[in-house]
Amino acid sequence: MILAPSLLAADFGNLQQAIEMVNASEADWFHIDIMDGVFVPNISYGMPVLSVIQKHATKPLDVHLMIVDPSRYISTFAKLGSDILTVHYEACTHLHRTLQAIKAENMKAGVALNPHTPVSVLEDIIQDVDVLLLMSVNPGFGGQSFIENTYKKVRQAKTLIEQSGASTLIEIDGGVSLKNAKALVEAGADALVAGSFVFNAANPTQTIADLKHI
Ligand code: DX5
Ligand code: ZN
Repeated sequence: MILAPSLLAADFGNLQQAIEMVNASEADWFHIDIMDGVFVPNISYGMPVLSVIQKHATKPLDVHLMIVDPSRYISTFAKLGSDILTVHYEACTHLHRTLQAIKAENMKAGVALNPHTPVSVLEDIIQDVDVLLLMSVNPGFGGQSFIENTYKKVRQAKTLIEQSGASTLIEIDGGVSLKNAKALVEAGADALVAGSFVFNAANPTQTIADLKHI
């Protein structure tokens, strides 16, 4: 299982320290949440902060765009070192074009689905999706409760991917903890994002290891 700690829950006053903790830990990716205050009711951080993260991070940057019309910023996020660039299905009018544009910049293309958006909307695009990010909370904030309906969506996503012969990874984002991580992987999840569960822990490095060893 791929584990991607979300820096949204880190202490921004000591961001370098948080990045170095993740570098030295068993985590696999950095999950970076970019919010615009329009697509979601919160503003997180943007390009200047991402350039600092890029400077210190030694693991892949998994960038989750919660912004309207993300196609405007694809080359910007490529230059900032994004390895995976995930856009929301709900924010893209021409999703096929957007995914091709992400791949043309040599990044993996991700698509995120809000909790209310069915997996079936991706039937005709799944072959082009490198990472399918299922939101297990409503996007916008860390520290929310996991939505139990996500298990069903993981199984549906797994079936869609297998039936279409795609090699899409399934990533889960929101409310992930030791309470649900194992069941999510058993349902078919390949990657888990964890924000507050890691960074609010007394020992984040050990918590990352605990999640990796479920
Ligand atoms: C929510 C973000 C998540 C968030 C997860 O909109 O997409 O990545 O950081 O945080 P936790 O793990 O605290 O739910
Ligand atoms: Zn996220």
